[in-house]
Amino acid sequence: MSEPLGLAVVGCGNISNQYLKNLTRFPDVQVLFCADIDSDRAKAQAAAYDIPAAGSVEQALDHPGVGLVVNLTTPAAHAQVATAAVAAGKHVWNEKPLTLDVAAGRQLLERATAAGVRVGCAPDTVLGAGIQSARRLIGEGGIGTPLSALTLLQSMGPEGWHPDPAFLFAPGAGPLFDLGPYYLSTLAVIFGPATRVAAVSRQARDTRTVGSGPKQGTEFPVQVPTYTAALAEYAAGQAAQLLFSWDSPLARQGFIEITGSEATLAIPDPNRFDGDLRIRRAGDGDWTVIPSAGAKAGRGMGVVDMARSMLEGGPHRASGEMALHVLELMTKIEQSGASGQFEPVETTFATPAPLSLEWDPHAQAA
Ligand SMILES: NC(=O)c1ccc[n+]([C@@H]2O[C@H](COP(=O)([O-])OP(=O)(O)OC[C@H]3O[C@@H](n4cnc5c(N)ncnc54)[C@H](O)[C@@H]3O)[C@@H](O)[C@H]2O)c1
Repeated sequence: MSEPLGLAVVGCGNISNQYLKNLTRFPDVQVLFCADIDSDRAKAQAAAYDIPAAGSVEQALDHPGVGLVVNLTTPAAHAQVATAAVAAGKHVWNEKPLTLDVAAGRQLLERATAAGVRVGCAPDTVLGAGIQSARRLIGEGGIGTPLSALTLLQSMGPEGWHPDPAFLFAPGAGPLFDLGPYYLSTLAVIFGPATRVAAVSRQARDTRTVGSGPKQGTEFPVQVPTYTAALAEYAAGQAAQLLFSWDSPLARQGFIEITGSEATLAIPDPNRFDGDLRIRRAGDGDWTVIPSAGAKAGRGMGVVDMARSMLEGGPHRASGEMALHVLELMTKIEQSGASGQFEPVETTFATPAPLSLEWDPHAQAA
């Protein structure tokens, strides 16, 4: 039996609860340290999840037992925290997006390569039972030759329920950057890298109004497109149409259909780890439901896959390279919405191998 990989969780906010709940139950990893710029938050999360130590980011990076930093800070801090971890010789798992811009993401990956450490990135929903079942079914020829995809994310937007939503309508967010990683990463693991994108963007309103909490009734500016209709072409020949809208009275999200030469497959919500698949072949009068199979343990599965890949010497699946590609896709989609031109995509990545049905983060791998 090898020792579990020592982890430091940096950024002890909202999403750290999901990570800490899971990572403290996966035997291949061991959370040794909680860090945050708000040291009270770090201490509170360490106490709540029985983590032995808490403190500053510097202390986390000095900890000799920590081999990998789980970076759950807000997007603006992703590059800075991850770069410091790499400089300290630690592997890094970043929450999405990898960084705020492509140049910073590229620099992070170059520094990690030079330092001989790995970078992984959310969303690891692509390792969940729902998307992995789709991946396996398509890989076994279940829809014939994969040809195209249609994804839909539409609603009136989050300001109705979110108590402090202004940042979601500022640069770096909007429906494309906030939720695009789930849809684009799913297509990335199924189709591989994209080669060019185009988009039309709109913004229905200049201001919005907070709908709940202490700021209810307060107006704030909308600074980014709230409707983006995008096209993507993939190196393996497929095409995709993607809609990201917070300007729609009709709410419909988690919609991904992959059409092949023999059948159309409806994939479960890419922001979840499970859910049924549905398939419809030419001539079928209705959908046939296919339950998903495989691990559905939730956030942190990508960290376990990193730990196991290091032991085995192979590549991890939710890679920094794939996350950089997804970041470039979102950036180029945004650019195309402004320029009206198709935008070429330069980055690429090795399409990750599917997980086996037996893969289980709750088991001890080695
Ligand atoms: N909240 C969700 O439901 C959710 C879901 C999926 C992904 N995410 C992603 O997770 C990340 C964190 O989101 P969140 O909702 O937990 O945010 P949050 O604001 O609740 O927590 C972020 C934490 O990071 C800390 N922090 C910020 N800068 C730091 C720095 N330089 N050094 C150390 N600590 C720092 C903050 O003090 C805060 O405690 C984001 O990238 C987000 O996109 C969030």
